[in-house]
Amino acid sequence: MKLLAIVGSPRLKGNTNYLVEQSLEEAAKLGAETEKIILSQYVVNPCLGHEDCASYDACRQKDDTGWILDRFCEADGVILATPVYYYNVSAQMKIFIDRNYFLYTHDRKTRAGVVGIIMVAESLGIEDTLHTLKQFIDESFSVKEDRIFIVSGYAGRPGEVKNNLSLVEEARKLGRQMVESLRMEA
Ligand SMILES: Cc1cc2nc3c(=O)[nH]c(=O)nc-3n(C[C@H](O)[C@H](O)[C@H](O)COP(=O)(O)O)c2cc1C
Repeated sequence: MKLLAIVGSPRLKGNTNYLVEQSLEEAAKLGAETEKIILSQYVVNPCLGHEDCASYDACRQKDDTGWILDRFCEADGVILATPVYYYNVSAQMKIFIDRNYFLYTHDRKTRAGVVGIIMVAESLGIEDTLHTLKQFIDESFSVKEDRIFIVSGYAGRPGEVKNNLSLVEEARKLGRQMVESLRMEA
């Protein structure tokens, strides 16, 4: 069972990344194979809007997005994690979402049967961020609503979230729930 986390925060010691680590650690304890892709560590360029993806076997942009999308498609479960930037997903996450257009034009979806959403804001914007991620999930996944697990909370400085023990526990629970949900399905 493979769980992949796509992380839209560029802060390696930041809050989103910390919560993701908690989720993945718990999932690993239950036997899942886990992988974390921090988008800012790779070359993931914005969609250029060629709109001719369907005529090509691979996106015309040669960057890291190709293999990241392959991993995304092959995962049994995917965590989408982002800080809230200007009331929505971070630019890194939005670029990743847009680059999924290639899959969309090839009628390709991730095989993931379960999704985790992790969002961290300082104070405002969780609702719009969730809306964006849910729209993306509607387009690019085939998951039932009860297989989408959501954790969100508030923190500002990098690592501040560690003090919010209930939120940390929610993130751990999310990891366990994803594995259990996949096991129930099997
Ligand atoms: C460019 C930028 C935009 C931000 N916009 C918002 C926002 O709209 N609402 C909010 O509550 N916090 C906002 N924040 C604060 C971050 O969401 C907050 O610091 C969060 O903890 C960052 O998560 P991270 O540590 O995982 O990167 C913004 C931060 C940055 C750098």
